[in-house]
Amino acid sequence: MSRTLVIVKPDGVERGLVGAILGRLEARGLALAAAELRTIDAATAEAHYAEHRGKPFYERLVAFITRGPSMVCVVEGPEETWRLVRTMMGATNPVDALPGTIRGDLATEMAENLIHGSDSEESARREVALFFPHLG
Ligand code: RTP
Ligand code: MG
Repeated sequence: MSRTLVIVKPDGVERGLVGAILGRLEARGLALAAAELRTIDAATAEAHYAEHRGKPFYERLVAFITRGPSMVCVVEGPEETWRLVRTMMGATNPVDALPGTIRGDLATEMAENLIHGSDSEESARREVALFFPHLG
């Protein structure tokens, strides 16, 4: 079994796309190990996106991810679940995301790209522990 952190970002919750997005993951064969509608606080957002501190888009990114409720989930599958989810998400910039991917079908803007998925096995471990300490 392998686990990854998935966040349906505030734009996805605002647009009523939680079911559509999580439904795609479930239909693919992945399972939810945890899911909580949660407004991410600034300290957690800063820890989560620490790799981007100092970049030009960092402040906007933290403001965006904390602006309202997100659906924060631990998603589980057989192996390399983080990579399967990343493939299903599509490119970071929705302009480059292929049709058939979540961003390629449902998003248009880099800053409002609907979904976060951990980008490695190590990130997945770190992020699951950050948001769900009892699963870490
Ligand atoms: P995420 O962490 O949210 O799953 O997205 P990602 O791995 O596909 O992209 P990442 O490089 O980690 O960037 C995190 C989020 O920051 C915004 N971003 N803006 N050049 C820019 O303006 C820029 N680069 C990144 C995006 O919203 C991206 O999802
Ligand atoms: Mg990332």
